[in-house]
Amino acid sequence: MASVSNTSIDTAEPEEQASSGPRHVAIIMDGNGRWAQARGRPRLFGHHAGARRVREIVECCPQYGVKYLTIFAFSTENWKRTQVEISGLMSLFRRYISKEMKALALRNVRVRFIGDRLRLDAKLVQLMDELEHETEANEGIHLTIALNYGGRDEVARATKRLAQDVASGQLSPEDVNEETLPRYLDTHVLPDPDLVIRTSGEARISNFLLWQSAYAEYEFTDTLWPDFTSEELGRLCRKFGSRERRFGAVST
Ligand code: FPP
Repeated sequence: MASVSNTSIDTAEPEEQASSGPRHVAIIMDGNGRWAQARGRPRLFGHHAGARRVREIVECCPQYGVKYLTIFAFSTENWKRTQVEISGLMSLFRRYISKEMKALALRNVRVRFIGDRLRLDAKLVQLMDELEHETEANEGIHLTIALNYGGRDEVARATKRLAQDVASGQLSPEDVNEETLPRYLDTHVLPDPDLVIRTSGEARISNFLLWQSAYAEYEFTDTLWPDFTSEELGRLCRKFGSRERRFGAVST
């Protein structure tokens, strides 16, 4: 993969800062397989093109005032794919983290991973831990990568930990509410997403950030992920800025 310069990502003066723009954008990166198929190439060819696209999208975030970007890289359901595709994706993640992500890290990106690490191979988990550790002081863009992530699985794991705290007397059942439960989610340090984008023309949320997206705006674009550009992200951010978010209240 191509290298990147050491220039730090600076969010001080975004060129196109819309105060009403989304602060946290979450993306379901779909369509890599179809993109490859349209070129007569194997599915992994599409995943590699998709991985290259991630960098462009991370780098353009400051331009649109996006401070948090969360991307869906591998779901708890993706284990149903062929062994060839799964091992190809795992090796892509390892390679990406050791090269591309470390380069991004030098550019002031703070990287976090969400999802269940127990089923991932030890080498990959080690790289993920290292990258989180190496970037923990960065404050440019907060990039969160969902890897072996499923919203229902996350809520189930959170509930288990919460139940353990109740059983040990650290938490009273009366204190279980909308504020305490999210503290047990993988995303506990992140704000909720404002805008969730899914590429490739599918209008589903596929178990992504179920709790966190309760009041998110959704955008479904026909563009396949490897073709998704920073310009398109900019257009969707501007469109978001023109929407009225009422959070259950009425217009004033
Ligand atoms: C969905 O497209 C995409 C995935 C399951 C993998 C997403 C992975 C990447 C974009 C590459 C790597 C990312 C990082 C963070 C390094 P699909 O295969 O379901 O496409 P299809 O619906 O056309 O078959």
